[in-house]
Amino acid sequence: MASVSQKSLAIIGQGYVGLPLAMAAVESGWNVIGLDNSSARVENLNVGQSPVEDISNETLANALRSGSYRASSNFENVSNADVVTICVPTPLDEKKEPDLSALRGATRSAAPYLKSGALLVSESTSYPGTLRNEVIPIIEKNRSNGSAHLYFATAPERVNPGDQVWNQKNTPRLVSGIDKESHDKAMAFYGSICDAVVSVETPEIAEAAKLLENTFRLVNIGLINEFTKLCGPAGIDVNKVVTAASSKPYGFMPFRPGVGVGGHCIPVDPLYLTWWAKQNNLSAPIVQLAEKTNTEMHKYVANRALELAPSNNKTARVLLLGVAYKAGVSDVRETPVSYLREHLTQQGHAVEWIDPLVTSWEDTIPTKELTGFDVAILAVNQPGLPISDLQHIGIPILDCTNSYSGQKGIQSL
Ligand SMILES: NC(=O)c1ccc[n+]([C@@H]2O[C@H](COP(=O)([O-])OP(=O)(O)OC[C@H]3O[C@@H](n4cnc5c(N)ncnc54)[C@H](O)[C@@H]3O)[C@@H](O)[C@H]2O)c1
Repeated sequence: MASVSQKSLAIIGQGYVGLPLAMAAVESGWNVIGLDNSSARVENLNVGQSPVEDISNETLANALRSGSYRASSNFENVSNADVVTICVPTPLDEKKEPDLSALRGATRSAAPYLKSGALLVSESTSYPGTLRNEVIPIIEKNRSNGSAHLYFATAPERVNPGDQVWNQKNTPRLVSGIDKESHDKAMAFYGSICDAVVSVETPEIAEAAKLLENTFRLVNIGLINEFTKLCGPAGIDVNKVVTAASSKPYGFMPFRPGVGVGGHCIPVDPLYLTWWAKQNNLSAPIVQLAEKTNTEMHKYVANRALELAPSNNKTARVLLLGVAYKAGVSDVRETPVSYLREHLTQQGHAVEWIDPLVTSWEDTIPTKELTGFDVAILAVNQPGLPISDLQHIGIPILDCTNSYSGQKGIQSL
């Protein structure tokens, strides 16, 4: 059971970011309450059912058994916490602009219960100024009169779901407090969990750094996707070009082409940046163009795949291999494979899919049949895909993942 001297942490949002943080904090001796407004998620968590691949049911069950972790939807639990972290989604709205409703809602829900001396940290990705101009004013407006002094910091999360090497503990963490005391408290908090904590001068620098990290990836993936469209017609395998260029020991970093970008970060965060630029009467045309290039990549992929179909006909049967947003996860949110399916279907092709980690996708289920397809597109290299069976049957495969270069019946993007 948790000891009375244990420091208490409340984590709002128990998803890809919040739950791994909770488990890492338990491991480091914190007494953790995981708050989530989804009662179904809370119920599952409390019986040891993890909603994310990075945390096994066993790890969760051990944390529950130790008495140092439980989940709840009751925000009154915030009143016990020395530290409160916010790890809720910051997606885009239908206009592809920042949607801070979950962040604002979570902040509002926590505010009345923050105890005096508590540290509140926002980990959710957002544009510079979010802690100062969004989170803190909501707290100030809704806090109880008793919470004499509160501390605020930002520590943008860098988790990479499915990554076997980098995790909450060994990934250096950017931290910045709104004032010196807040900063010191936040540095000590993350220092108790993470191997390396990087002190950043202002919350705005930390917030902007997070956007830069993911925009850097979007732009470089856009560049390599553009490069792919130049190499393909010239009969040059772009992946071999990237591998060759990677032999340069400095000034080059390899990015690989693909169907597009997916997940909650790469397609989303750069649009927080472009929106923020617009608020300041500025623009970010390189980012906008990279976004457009990536969003349209599925059309090039579809054409390349149809060229491989034996009849190259107008109504091909196409099998999509891997539909999650990346390998090793079951998460299909923002998957670029959606655009590919939609495009092929609109052109009159019959599209089926297989993904060993995904049981249903956009109201469809995976096919059990492997025969009768004109072409297969390896969109995401999920473990357990029937690649050799398809090779055996003789179905041509377009590999968009650079996984099977040079193998019989498989062509690289
Ligand atoms: N997933 C990633 O790879 C990743 C990596 C780095 C940063 N981030 C950022 O971290 C933040 C969280 O992302 P995530 O992937 O963990 O999201 P998620 O969707 O996996 O989990 C968020 C959880 O928050 C809960 N929630 C939503 N609104 C709430 C509220 N008002 N009160 C309480 N709970 C609420 C949801 O029910 C859900 O369980 C986002 O800002 C995201 O951009 C995500």
